[in-house]
Amino acid sequence: MQIPEETINEIRERADIVEVVSQFVELRRSGSNFKGLCPFHEEKTPSFNVNPDRQIFHCFGCGRGGNVYTFLMEIEGISFPEAVRALGRQYGVEVVTREVPEEVRSRNEALYRANEFACQLYQRNLVDKRKGERARQYLLSRGIPKEAWTGFRIGYASDTWDQLVAAARKKKYSIDVLRTLKLVVSSDNSVGYYDYFRNRLMFPILSLSRRVVAFGARTLETDAEPKYLNSAESPIYAKRKTLFGLDRARDSIRERRSVIMVEGYTDCIAMHVKGFGNTVASCGTAITPDHAALLRRVSQRVVLIPDADPAGFDSALSSGAVFLAAGLDVQVVRLETGTDPDTAVNALGAEKFGKILGGALDYLQFLDYIMKDRPMSPREKESVIHRVTAGLADFGDRLRYEVVVQDIAGILGVDPETLRERRKPRATRDTTSDGLETRPSRDAARRVDLEKTLLRLLLEDTPEAVEAREKLDSDDFSHDRSREFYKLLDSTWGNHIDIESHAFHKRAEGAGLEGFAAEVALIPIPPGNLGRLLNDTLRRVKELRIRDELDVLREKLQELPEDSDEAVALAGHYARLKRALSEL
Ligand code: UTP
Ligand code: MN
Repeated sequence: MQIPEETINEIRERADIVEVVSQFVELRRSGSNFKGLCPFHEEKTPSFNVNPDRQIFHCFGCGRGGNVYTFLMEIEGISFPEAVRALGRQYGVEVVTREVPEEVRSRNEALYRANEFACQLYQRNLVDKRKGERARQYLLSRGIPKEAWTGFRIGYASDTWDQLVAAARKKKYSIDVLRTLKLVVSSDNSVGYYDYFRNRLMFPILSLSRRVVAFGARTLETDAEPKYLNSAESPIYAKRKTLFGLDRARDSIRERRSVIMVEGYTDCIAMHVKGFGNTVASCGTAITPDHAALLRRVSQRVVLIPDADPAGFDSALSSGAVFLAAGLDVQVVRLETGTDPDTAVNALGAEKFGKILGGALDYLQFLDYIMKDRPMSPREKESVIHRVTAGLADFGDRLRYEVVVQDIAGILGVDPETLRERRKPRATRDTTSDGLETRPSRDAARRVDLEKTLLRLLLEDTPEAVEAREKLDSDDFSHDRSREFYKLLDSTWGNHIDIESHAFHKRAEGAGLEGFAAEVALIPIPPGNLGRLLNDTLRRVKELRIRDELDVLREKLQELPEDSDEAVALAGHYARLKRALSEL
C-alpha cells in the first residue's frame, strides 16, 4: 500500500519530535537542544540529542539518528507505513492509502492462499494416525514435542506423488499458482504434474504477519540427498530478506534485547523448545545486509551460534562482518567441536547452555581466536581476510568503519590499507567507453547498457516491476552508479515513496545520482509488451552476472589445489551457479 507523499509530509510537519521522543525518553533542555539517555544503547551520561528546530534526533554515542518517523520505527520496531499511521492517529491526520495495483495484490493473495492450503494439508498429515506415524516418531526422537509442532506449524508431506495436486485441483487452486510456489512440478515425459515435496517433514517459513511464504522440507531418511528441499523464490518469498522464526521470536528479541542467530531450521526450533525464544535462522542462505537491517529494527545485539566446524566458523566470520557493518554488536558462541546448537542445547539443557551463551566472544575476539587457534597457510589466511572484508563492504558509518578496520587489521596482521583497498574491489578495474567504472566483465559495456535499460523499465509502474524488484539485489548490477541507483530505488520502494516525487529527486541529488537518474529516465522504451520486455531484460542481467561470477570462480579454482577445502567449497558454489544459470 502506498501512502501519498503529501500525507507523509503533513504528518511530519504536525508531529513534534520532542513530544514523541518524550513518550520514551526523559528529556532535558540543553541550549537549543534537548538531551537524554539514549534508548538505543546502554549509557550513563546523556549523549542522545533532539533538535526541535530541525525536528531530528541524533545520538553521539551509538550514531543513530533521523526524523520522527525513523525514531518510531527504531524504537517500536515497526515499518515506515506503520509509523506514519501511528503518528497520523496521534496528530489527527487521516491516512488514506493508495492501493498496490489490483493485479499484483490478487496475484500475491492467491499465492498466500495456496501456501496456506498446503500448510494445513501437511499439518493434518502429521497428526493423521497412519500417515504421520513415522514423521511423529522422528520429531519426538529429536526432542521436538507436540507444542512445537503446532507452534511452528510443522507438517508432513506424504509419501505419494499427487496428494497435494489432487486436493488442490478439487478445491480449484490454479496449477500456475502451485507451480510458481514450486509446490508442484511438471513431469518431463507427460502432461501431468506431481507434488514437489514428498515424504518430508515440512517447516513452513512465515512472514512477519505470519503468512506462509515458503517451506523448508527435511527428508526422514538418514543419508538421503538433498537433506532439505526448499521452496523456490517467488513474488512472496525472497530468501535474502527472510529469517526463519522471526515471526515467533520478535517479542522475545525485544524483551531480551538480543537476537540469537543459528544456521539450521532444527537448531532454531530446538532453541525455542528449550526456552531461547529469541532465536532465528537464515533460510539456507548467506546473511545479507537486508537480513541485518531487519534485525537492527528489533535489537542492537546479535549472538551467532554457528555449527562448531570449519564451515560453521567460516559462515560466522562472513555473517558477523555483515552484521557489524550494519551497526550491530556481534558476539559469537563457540560450541564444543563437532556439535551444533540443536545437539548442544539438548545435551546440556537450558541452564548449562545459558552459561555458554554468557561466555560468548565479541566478534573481534572470535576473529582473534580463529587466527590463533592453529597455524594457517597464507591461502587460508587470505580466505579469512576475504570473508571479513566482503562482509564489511557495505559498512554504513565511515568513522566506525575506520575504527573497526584498524582493529581487524591488527588481528589479521595486515596493513589497514590492504583492507581499505579490498573494500572497493568493484571500482577501477575496468573502464567502459563512457568512462564509467565497472567490475571486470566478459562484456562490460553490454552489461552496463542492459542494466540501464532494466532500471528504466523498473521506473514504470507495472506489476512486473514490483515483482522484478523482489528478484533483484544490488549485486546484480556491475556498474557503480547503476548499483547505487538501484539501491536508492530499492530503499525508496521500501518506504513507499513515489519515485516521481520531489522527495525522490532530493534523495537522488543527495546521493550524487541526479545526472544518472535523468540519463536513465530519458532512455526510450522500445514498443512491445512491457512486462515481457522487463522479464527478458531481468533474465539477461542475471545471466551476465552469473557468467561473470563463473569466470571469476573458474580463475580462482585454477589456482587452488584440487582437494583443498576451499576448492571443494568453490566447486560446490560453481555447480550451484551453473544450476541457477540453467534455471533462468
Ligand atoms: P544443516 O545440515 O545444519 O541442517 O543445514 P539442520 O537444519 O541443522 O538439520 P538437521 O539438524 O540435520 O536435521 C543448515 C541449514 O542449511 C539449509 C537449511 O536451511 C538448513 O536448516 N540446507 C541444508 C539446505 O537448504 N539444503 C540442504 O540440503 C542442507
Ligand atoms: Mn544442524
